[in-house]
Amino acid sequence: MSSAHSLAVSVRSVDKAFGSGEAAVRALKQTHFEARKGELVMLVGPSGCGKTTLLSIIAGTLHADAGEVEVFGKKLHSLSHGELTRFRLNHLGFVFQSFNLIPTLSVAENVAIPLILHGLPHAECLERARDMLARVGLKGREETRPNALSGGQQQRVAIARALVHTPPLLICDEPTSALDKDTGATVMEIIRDLSRAPDRCVIIVTHDHRIFKYADRIAEMEDGRITRVHDDPSTIDTQYS
Ligand SMILES: Nc1ncnc2c1ncn2[C@@H]1O[C@H](COP(=O)(O)OP(=O)(O)OP(=O)(O)O)[C@@H](O)[C@H]1O
Ligand SMILES: [Mg+2]
Repeated sequence: MSSAHSLAVSVRSVDKAFGSGEAAVRALKQTHFEARKGELVMLVGPSGCGKTTLLSIIAGTLHADAGEVEVFGKKLHSLSHGELTRFRLNHLGFVFQSFNLIPTLSVAENVAIPLILHGLPHAECLERARDMLARVGLKGREETRPNALSGGQQQRVAIARALVHTPPLLICDEPTSALDKDTGATVMEIIRDLSRAPDRCVIIVTHDHRIFKYADRIAEMEDGRITRVHDDPSTIDTQYS
């Protein structure tokens, strides 16, 4: 167990069910999970085991039914709605499994959103968005609408949007699922660089065994619980690929 001050994320005895009565699905069952500052943790497990639910609870977009979630020492359940929104804006970048790009905005505008929400001047936001897009290999596509891009290109826009304000906590749900090997490696190197700062942390859900080597630790999840944590990622087998 890590000391409290070295933890970026601490999830203790969290329950989460969807629906009620007979039809309720218990997605998280007394789940424990932790991620330390300065590390990149991957979360693997079969479809439906609760990975996205756990990420959403850490990100504060879903509320736990029971248990405690602390992110950088803040207990999420103790924050008001406004405080939680501000906390997320200042601390979090999220790459959604379904990308969640805004179809009516250009690619550059989509990536600029976190900076605009921080109140930076519009021109600076767009310039930084363009720089970030170039880093993920999308130079020249800045003015395109997201729907005109391939799945892999849309995924890179979603990654650029999550990284553009260098959030202390980056949470990615299957960030390389639509990417070829080389593009996936480029994106993972950018993400790993972000995690290297001592006060930052990256949590990635993935089925992609090609990127396991970028992890400091890999947590296995099964049926709503973390069942095993590998401190050496090379010890994990590739059943999750
Ligand atoms: N909004 C929802 N309403 C009802 N049930 C849900 C909802 N979200 C998730 N579930 C259920 O909770 C369980 C965990 O879902 P979750 O999306 O967390 O799985 P996952 O591990 O991310 O799966 P995948 O690898 O397919 O993305 C599943 O049984 C799912 O059907
Ligand atoms: Mg999922």
